[in-house]
Amino acid sequence: MTTAYETIRVRPLAGACGAEISGVDLARPLGNQAFAEIHRAFLEHSVIFFRDQDLKPADQEAFTLRFGPFGQTDYVKTLPDHPNIIAVIKEAEERTPFNFGGVWHSDFSYQDRPPMATILYGRDVPPYGGDTMFASGYLAYETLSDGLKRTLEGLRAVHSARRSYGSKGSYAKRRLKSMEIAADESGDAELEHPVIRTHPETGRKSVFVNPVYTIRIAGWTEAESKPLLDFLHAHAQRPEFTCRFRWAKGSLAMWDNRCLQHLALNDYHGFRREHHRTTVAGDRPA
Ligand code: SIN
Repeated sequence: MTTAYETIRVRPLAGACGAEISGVDLARPLGNQAFAEIHRAFLEHSVIFFRDQDLKPADQEAFTLRFGPFGQTDYVKTLPDHPNIIAVIKEAEERTPFNFGGVWHSDFSYQDRPPMATILYGRDVPPYGGDTMFASGYLAYETLSDGLKRTLEGLRAVHSARRSYGSKGSYAKRRLKSMEIAADESGDAELEHPVIRTHPETGRKSVFVNPVYTIRIAGWTEAESKPLLDFLHAHAQRPEFTCRFRWAKGSLAMWDNRCLQHLALNDYHGFRREHHRTTVAGDRPA
């Protein structure tokens, strides 16, 4: 039986993942019990949401640091006085089909130790659209056949930033007007992670490949890898594995990159959207 929450209220948003938390002001220092309960809700629901928060950059930094040191931010220019915050912005006049975070991914999975969590705070939100979607890698794993689970558990995958931040990546070809992103050849580097990872805190297994950063199965060619990766991506994105968050100014989302993918919807042309984003350092996937 799960223990009741005493200092916060937790309302699940969908069967797969996601819960809204109320009864806490993140601009004030969190007591130990409130922090422990928020952390528990984060592990139980994989992504948690708070409404009506009034946070300065320093408040978001302090909340982030309760969970661990900042993660490493590559390629994207950070705020001048806040080297661990990036502003995710799309201006009203940017009618591009391409937006930051607009393809399913797990943040910075090309890093040796990708961030365990990302925290995103809504500062300017369109009147409709611009939702963020999340998909549970736990459910993606748990719904596979035993045969495929066994096969995948023996595999590793090659991850790289090359399709986005590499010398020929999307950010090298197309500039986002409102975000400074310096793609370069360092983005072409590759490293390997297991295809199935075990969450270091919950012990649950999840599928850990994504269409942005996973290039191929280690030891296979890209052509050989494509059918399997295409299947895993489509499977991981099944609607019943997802939840979808409707932003308002002052909303904050915190998601677990170790067991979730996410996607920023680009359906609000003509309106401005701005969020502040921080990450918490993670460990090497195993
Ligand atoms: C991201 O992928 O970090 C951005 C998500 C969003 O803007 O909703």
